[in-house]
Amino acid sequence: MKDQVNDRIDKYGGSLENRCRFPLEIVEAVVNEIGADKVGMRLSPYASYMEASESNPEALGVYMANAVNKFGILYLHVIEPRMIKINDKYETPHSLLPMRNAFKGTFIAAGGYNVDDGTKAIADNYSDLVAFGRFFLANPDLPRRFQLNAPLNKYN
Ligand SMILES: Cc1cc2nc3c(=O)[nH]c(=O)nc-3n(C[C@H](O)[C@H](O)[C@H](O)COP(=O)(O)O)c2cc1C
Repeated sequence: MKDQVNDRIDKYGGSLENRCRFPLEIVEAVVNEIGADKVGMRLSPYASYMEASESNPEALGVYMANAVNKFGILYLHVIEPRMIKINDKYETPHSLLPMRNAFKGTFIAAGGYNVDDGTKAIADNYSDLVAFGRFFLANPDLPRRFQLNAPLNKYN
């Protein structure tokens, strides 16, 4: 999908529409096979590693959010713009709100959350759900620890 890595010259490369064609064909095929209520998609338009970056990630993300609406998939799960690199949070003026507002199904945000900013994201209706990755790996009882306000194991 990303313009820094997609150098195709056929109908799967070049324009944003062309670069998004293949994943959308996959979504359509899977939806036809198992039903839209069992299909979710995860996108990291802002991530910039593995030589895969995008010059206009917001346009890419909003295009994909609108495009998958057509299939009525259950959820869209998106990594925060601040997770440009795999491990650290970066200051960025970008947010997931344009994608959140475009997508009609359940929106899931992830990337660098703790219990406080995750709770705020839900309270502000910034996202329907917040996913935790590394904290969950290090704390298999994470929901219970959040409930008890218990200390968390550090992830490695
Ligand atoms: C070791 C590692 C590998 C990752 N691999 C992927 C990946 O293959 N696909 C993806 O969408 N995100 C990947 N991510 C990004 C995470 O999904 C995301 O940035 C974040 O780590 C998830 O939220 P967390 O901050 O709660 O862990 C990876 C992150 C890490 C730390």
